[in-house]
Amino acid sequence: MPFEIKPGVHWVGKVDWELRTFHGQEYSTHRGSSYNAYLVRGERTVLIDTVWGPYAEEFVAGLAALLPLDQIDHVVMNHNEPDHAGSLARLMREIPGVPVHCSRMALQSIPGQFHGDWNLVPHKTGDVLDLGAGRALTFVEMNMLHWPDSMASYLSGDGILFSNDAFGQHVASEGLYADTVDPCELWAEAVKYYANILTPFSGLLQKKLAEIAALGVPIEMICPSHGVIWRENPMQIVERYAAWADAYAEDRVVLLYDTMWDATRLMAEAIADGLRQALPGTEVRLFNTARTDKNDCITEIFRARGVLVGSPTINRGILHSVAGLLEVATGLKFQGKKAAAFGSFGWSGESVKHIAQALEQAGFEVVDPGLRLKWRPDAGALEQCREFGRRFAAAL
Ligand code: FEO
Repeated sequence: MPFEIKPGVHWVGKVDWELRTFHGQEYSTHRGSSYNAYLVRGERTVLIDTVWGPYAEEFVAGLAALLPLDQIDHVVMNHNEPDHAGSLARLMREIPGVPVHCSRMALQSIPGQFHGDWNLVPHKTGDVLDLGAGRALTFVEMNMLHWPDSMASYLSGDGILFSNDAFGQHVASEGLYADTVDPCELWAEAVKYYANILTPFSGLLQKKLAEIAALGVPIEMICPSHGVIWRENPMQIVERYAAWADAYAEDRVVLLYDTMWDATRLMAEAIADGLRQALPGTEVRLFNTARTDKNDCITEIFRARGVLVGSPTINRGILHSVAGLLEVATGLKFQGKKAAAFGSFGWSGESVKHIAQALEQAGFEVVDPGLRLKWRPDAGALEQCREFGRRFAAAL
């Protein structure tokens, strides 16, 4: 249900309490999400973004309850992934001639996905849309944050940054402000969102944050397109992003493994013992990749300074949950993390070699050739694992 976030500025999006996966099945959304759209009313009225396609009818009906749709003078599409642009076609049936402002790259993504014959108006950074009465929207291209067509819009007069995906989180809430939700849940989802979506673009993000700071404009509120609005100390999320974009790591080591008959699990637990002996102040965490949500595993990697990955050998390869996780990690391009591989085997024993190669290709610094043990570890083999953990700790 629409609500006013500042005089004349309404949230008109959709809270999706039911959402449990996003990007198809690629991203788990344990706490739902929201698709935030905004309506700025004044001398000229502008709608910023829409919502995901399944909610198109209720989105347009909600807008129509707020104002006659022919009073919408402009539509701004900050980004055209279907979770934001999925209702555009339905809306444009009601207001076919209204200009749709977008980034230059959106001249590809909008027709490519929605095939509409609409009045697209492309913008570059610094272009201004005057809304009258002291209000204007300034556009900032956000290429690759996280799509080539991404942009943000800054509403002068109100000091609102409509940042689209940047600074978002997949959290459903009725309050829709950062200061009205459980901070533990909020920050857990914010870091997961960064780790799983924005990590590959950290270098670009650092430049973009500097560019936004150089504008020297007051930012009183940050309105992302997912999750909560930042109204109290809105720069807190910008400061977190600056830290996350800078080869982020906490004093943690994570062990991610899969196991068939527990030999690799026993190895992981003994390695963790060795790590704890050598690094008593460091948090050591273990996750079975077959039993743990892959996006949560990725968040664990993001937060760790050391990463140990284990799998037994199967069919001269590794177990699929480990292989899948390494594939996701390769795309995310983590920076500055040290890693090593381990695993048990009965016959041929290639798993450690495969994992170490995958870790290197994914950009991890592999600091040890790895530990491969034949059959189920006995007391002596478990001591080898503890020694491996101590050796890895020394390399951190
Ligand atoms: Fe929320 Fe890139 O879409």
